[in-house]
Amino acid sequence: MKRGTDLITDLWYKNAVVYCLSVESFMDSNGDGVGDFRGLMRRLDYLHGLGVTAIWLMPFQTSPGLDDGYDVSDYYGVDPRFGTLGDFVEFTHGAKQRGMRVLIDLVVNHTSNEHPWFKAARSDPKSPYRDWYIWSKKKPANANEGMVFPGVQKTTWTRDEEAKEYYFHRFYEFQPDLNTANPKVQAEILKIMGFWIQLGVSGFRMDAVPFVISEKGADIEGKPKEHFEMLRQFREFLQWRKGDAIILAEANILPKDDMKYFGADGDRMQMMFNFQVNQSLFYALAVADIGPLAKALEETKPEYPTAQWGLFLRNHDELDLGRLTKPQRQQVFDAFGADKSMQLYDRGIRRRLAPMLKGDRRRLELAYSLMFTLPGTPVIRYGDEIAMGDDLELPERNCARTPMQWSNDPQGGFSSADKTFLPVISDGAYGYPTTNVAEQRRDPGSFLNWMERIIRMRQETPEIGWGDFEIIDTREPGVLAMRYVWRGNAVLLLHNFNAEGRTVKFRSKVQEGEPDCLVNLLSDDHSDVGKDGRHRVTLEPYGYRWYRVGALDYVLKRSEM
Ligand code: NOJ
Repeated sequence: MKRGTDLITDLWYKNAVVYCLSVESFMDSNGDGVGDFRGLMRRLDYLHGLGVTAIWLMPFQTSPGLDDGYDVSDYYGVDPRFGTLGDFVEFTHGAKQRGMRVLIDLVVNHTSNEHPWFKAARSDPKSPYRDWYIWSKKKPANANEGMVFPGVQKTTWTRDEEAKEYYFHRFYEFQPDLNTANPKVQAEILKIMGFWIQLGVSGFRMDAVPFVISEKGADIEGKPKEHFEMLRQFREFLQWRKGDAIILAEANILPKDDMKYFGADGDRMQMMFNFQVNQSLFYALAVADIGPLAKALEETKPEYPTAQWGLFLRNHDELDLGRLTKPQRQQVFDAFGADKSMQLYDRGIRRRLAPMLKGDRRRLELAYSLMFTLPGTPVIRYGDEIAMGDDLELPERNCARTPMQWSNDPQGGFSSADKTFLPVISDGAYGYPTTNVAEQRRDPGSFLNWMERIIRMRQETPEIGWGDFEIIDTREPGVLAMRYVWRGNAVLLLHNFNAEGRTVKFRSKVQEGEPDCLVNLLSDDHSDVGKDGRHRVTLEPYGYRWYRVGALDYVLKRSEM
């Protein structure tokens, strides 16, 4: 039988630029204070103009909305607050017309406790749905372990008065875990994927993958077994239905386990978020030490050509620093979230990127330049392209989920309602009167225009998405130098994490016979090799460089080939 990888028809995701948004917070078309698909459709040209090639929609299916839609009560419908299935199809069509693909969240580790499956399961022990969830007559001994939201979530087993049993929930108690080992549940998961594929999506961001494949139950002792074969099943099904569809897994795992998720011969997940690099990147930004980042990059080098990392800075959750050592974590807290109100779940920071970096344009550019040049596919979070801020008055992760700021009209142009689902940020440096799309669109030097330009450049350097990288030693602990090669072309990237300028010397490793020149892709200060066979580049505080390796005419000739 053919392996999953033999079926893949297009590796589009390797050079994509993904933009993550929630329909709820993007654009409200009907004035009810909640974003909707019609509003989103009006903004498709904006996303296209920015250079986005794939949109990742956070959950929009019917849901009580207690965990921002990650508590689904109907997998086959659009929550009426956001529109109808018809609107959804109009949206995927509109995206396709503009050459943008759509990925959607697939939240199948758990359902909402309002889901009819759970209602049926709890009300009747003989219900065919009883075994779709995980039950225990007695409170399991480990009920107070493994909470994902410590400080907010008290237990992983809650007694259901109707069922008169305890049910397992890895997340909040209104999110009962599905019994994913049950073949009927697995078949339903495939059906859900098949449904949305049919409606035009190109794949899924699969929520909480390690928990989906983990053995679940009251009697489990020690580390639960993981059913990796499930991943192959998901992938195969997808690719049989649509050759170029992918799964982007949310799996915050250790590097030693990466290949178990990608599959040793690439037959499991096509993409995963690189949490290891994310955390060490923030450490590097905080203390100007690239040591752990370089280590994370080496340790997470994918070993199979179809496997790809999703690279992100901040997402809709807290910045999880749980994989750093305690002193490292403390240094990141000190730099970016010293106040307790900025921290969450004993392990992370809940702020948006711009306020973490104190709105310092140099540091923002450095961070994004890194996100666009580290190995993988960049995933932008809505609002980050205009350096939106957060509202720490809002509870938990909501502080970084406020409505998109389009203009200096009331409610930031997001909605005509007097009250929006979460307040629009209206005061201070990050308030909509100063931070908004319309203003930045008009200003050629704005962050938005910088972002558009860097996205264009990323699209023009496929070496990063496709190629092999090596880290070049510059002997500067706060400077990262990387070189990518793909199909005979090479690019070289420099990033200075220091608040002071740095001069670095290095070899470009140009191919034999090529002129040793580094062509600056973002300005015209190119670099010629010195007599000692090395390049010497002076980087500004937080400065960065994108070079193509080889002389200009040589590079042009090559790109035409
Ligand atoms: C991970 C999601 O990113 C998070 O927002 C959510 O709360 C949990 N999974 C539960 O679905």
